Amino acid sequence: MTEREFGSTESTENTEKQRYLVTSALPYANGPLHVGQIVGAYLPADIFVRFLRMRGDDVLYICGTDEHGVPITLTAEREGKSPQEVVDFWYDHMKETFDRFGISFDNFSRTSTPIHAKNTRHFYERLKEGGYISEAESRQMYSPTEDRFLPDRYVEGTCPFCGYREARGDQCDNCGNWYEAYELIEPHSKVTGGAVEVRETTHLYLDLSQFSGRLKDWISGQDHWRSAVKNFILGTINSGLEKRPITRDIKWGVEIPEPGFEEKRFYVWFDAPIGYVSATQEWAERIGEPDRWRDYWQEPDTKMIHFIGKDNTVFHTIIWPAMLMGVAEGGEEPYILPYDVPANEFMNLDVAVGDERRAMQMSTSRNLAVWLHEALERFPADPLRFYLASTLPETGDVNFSWRDFQTRVNGDLIGNLGNYVNRVLSFTNKYFDGELKRPAELSAEAEQVLADFRETESDYERKMLDERPREAHTELLAMGRRANRYFDAAAPWKSRKDDPARTKLDLYVCCAMLGSIAYHASPYVPESIERLQGFFGGPIAPIKARRLPDLYRTSEAKPLFARIEDKDIEAADEQLTRAVTG
Ligand code: 2FM
Ligand code: ZN
Repeated sequence: MTEREFGSTESTENTEKQRYLVTSALPYANGPLHVGQIVGAYLPADIFVRFLRMRGDDVLYICGTDEHGVPITLTAEREGKSPQEVVDFWYDHMKETFDRFGISFDNFSRTSTPIHAKNTRHFYERLKEGGYISEAESRQMYSPTEDRFLPDRYVEGTCPFCGYREARGDQCDNCGNWYEAYELIEPHSKVTGGAVEVRETTHLYLDLSQFSGRLKDWISGQDHWRSAVKNFILGTINSGLEKRPITRDIKWGVEIPEPGFEEKRFYVWFDAPIGYVSATQEWAERIGEPDRWRDYWQEPDTKMIHFIGKDNTVFHTIIWPAMLMGVAEGGEEPYILPYDVPANEFMNLDVAVGDERRAMQMSTSRNLAVWLHEALERFPADPLRFYLASTLPETGDVNFSWRDFQTRVNGDLIGNLGNYVNRVLSFTNKYFDGELKRPAELSAEAEQVLADFRETESDYERKMLDERPREAHTELLAMGRRANRYFDAAAPWKSRKDDPARTKLDLYVCCAMLGSIAYHASPYVPESIERLQGFFGGPIAPIKARRLPDLYRTSEAKPLFARIEDKDIEAADEQLTRAVTG
């Protein structure tokens, strides 16, 4: 084989840096994070971002807590605390949990900052200048016993679309449709359970109908969007967009710059997405380049990607883009539109109840969920990330089970990948004192396996750039299997006796594959790959990206992952079973 082909001197390195702004939905600061939220908006985004950073792209990853609205005031009332106490506590809790789980935000902000209130009012003023805001009387649910208007989530009833009985006042958790609270069947107060009545109140409205044409043209052109997301949105636009109220009868939230609205606040879904802008500005201030936020929001070649759970789809693909279009109008203050909105489906729980296993919806109120901070007390972050990544709800709902977690970690993470690391390094250390020089020539088998690897690397890359880390995960496992097969066939424990040069060559190639596996595993299990760097003395890089190194110098391998024991799984499982059986 010629030198030019061997080790691919023709670099396929990422020479064209792409600028990305990646966001994860801002979680309400009103309770702990559960794994259902994690697989929807956070883990896939983090894996994607880590991959882009390794490629050398210019990427900013933004998130923060959503601190306004009824989700917060309801929690505060239930717990006898002030809304401020609630959000302060959960901001810290979430930030710490994300940290422990290895979510690598560039800024984790919050929507209670002064800069955010300013932005929200600015967006409002711009939309008003554009003629998109109007004032109108509306019918609102009023609770005679509590003597107050009840905004959206204080009201519950039966969904007018699908008949789900515990539908919230603004949106149905079951079918994702949104409506006015008075459209619910048999509405009642969530706090007292008592009946509610309809009364007149004044609110500000955003006229979405004026954006229909523009939204439709824009979405129709998004050929790279997931078809489920695209079809849902086109269907919603086709059935007619209306004026949507952007204010609420509530005292907690961003104040409204209009006389007569002192007792009201902006609807949390009006200010929340603006939080992405505020968090970016906060980041820019922090790094001492206050104008840098503009690169990410105003440069047309930036790809802005919003990772969300599917229940947030309408807000991110219709209302938010409409707001951005309205604010950007006139061209003085441009805003880009999302490049993509990967919306993920739901994760259900697979729980043992008696002799059977049941698939159940996670429920925060019934404490029926796998809370991330608790899971992290039982197991390290990397095996949890690895398992959750293998079952991301990219195309349909999925089930979480602790048994599955054990099977995947012990079988795939340890049995396939971890095992490969150990055998390659221990043979290299034992036979060659950890030193392998680049051989002058490769064997046919070695050429073949490297070619196979390059192909799998390309498949992985394609799936990852397509924002499908679960599918890329299957390519990672394929690399592990291919590498193990090569190692088995090479059988260094045998070949060493009659052909040590051959053994050396094979282990050299195995190290190259190890570097590639580590590279592709690193977005999933970042902390472990960092540790691997301490004893794998070679580049952690794809094979196709560069010439293979002149030398590998390895040292004694330390185990990267611990087996998941039955007793730990039983304890975790029992906790869920208790939540179901009470
Ligand atoms: O569903 C939720 O948890 C919302 N707090 C998501 C907000 S996303 C963004 F717009 F801020
Ligand atoms: Zn419904």
